[in-house]
Amino acid sequence: MSPSPVVAPVFPELAGRLALVTGGAVGIGRAISAALARQGVRVAIGDIDLAAAERTAADIGGGAIAVRIDVRERAAVEAGFAEVVARLGGCDLLIANAGVSTMKPALEITDAEWEFNFAVNTRGVFLTNQIAARHFVDTGKGCIVNTASLAAKVGAPLLAHYSASKFAVLGWTQALARELAGKGIRVNAVCPGFVATSMQSREVEWEAGLRGVTPEQVIADYIAQTPLGRLEQPEDVADVVVFLCSDQARFMTGQGINVTGGVYMT
Ligand SMILES: NC(=O)c1ccc[n+]([C@@H]2O[C@H](COP(=O)([O-])OP(=O)(O)OC[C@H]3O[C@@H](n4cnc5c(N)ncnc54)[C@H](O)[C@@H]3O)[C@@H](O)[C@H]2O)c1
Repeated sequence: MSPSPVVAPVFPELAGRLALVTGGAVGIGRAISAALARQGVRVAIGDIDLAAAERTAADIGGGAIAVRIDVRERAAVEAGFAEVVARLGGCDLLIANAGVSTMKPALEITDAEWEFNFAVNTRGVFLTNQIAARHFVDTGKGCIVNTASLAAKVGAPLLAHYSASKFAVLGWTQALARELAGKGIRVNAVCPGFVATSMQSREVEWEAGLRGVTPEQVIADYIAQTPLGRLEQPEDVADVVVFLCSDQARFMTGQGINVTGGVYMT
């Protein structure tokens, strides 16, 4: 893949800032990493898949680095964050984006599936936010954006465990935003809708099987629910994350911003 196209920075204040993007190797996290790099942000891609993170770091350029981090484990997050600070020379922005999903009717969800979704989606946000925020408090500046979901606003059928894990992200985001507001640290979340990524490809296959329809029908149903009339792309989310990191979002904290093409409107 060729390097990201060079575009004129829209938020010049972001140039030179230092970011950790978890789950940044592919999908939405990759698009966020690339969009930040285009603003002149030096990005650390923290991912459980180090080889994929290294490929993405090389693709997006701008001095991006890759760090292996499993967001489920405190020791791994502490070590990974320390490595980011050492190699970048600091950290100003955390994008807690790593997430997983599995799909099951609610009455069939196993303990293991519940715990897997909560370990990555909820504990991963807790650990990365807490460890980064301690650093931000020490340095007197910082900004956090968590990737929640449409499923954090409305209960998603066949994704009850995922939905619960993402509702929790918004509760945490609001509480942390209130606690850190006086320290100059903003904490927000984005809530994407039906985004074309590898996670979506897996979900389409599962949902087709569970509903007894074709994968094409599942995708058509996603688009039919979307007033703007197409599947969401990772870049649609990334541009909003960049805005939330910018000084133009200086009076926004504790928000869960819908980026769904209108699927959900309040
Ligand atoms: N795709 C969608 O439709 C959609 C919609 C709403 C919200 N989201 C959320 O957006 C985020 C990104 O989703 P995506 O669609 O790009 O998914 P994806 O599966 O395409 O990518 C997820 C990335 O997270 C990494 N990851 C997984 N477990 C990890 C762990 N324990 N530690 C560190 N990294 C880990 C993966 O290696 C991968 O690089 C997730 O939080 C997801 O829940 C996605």
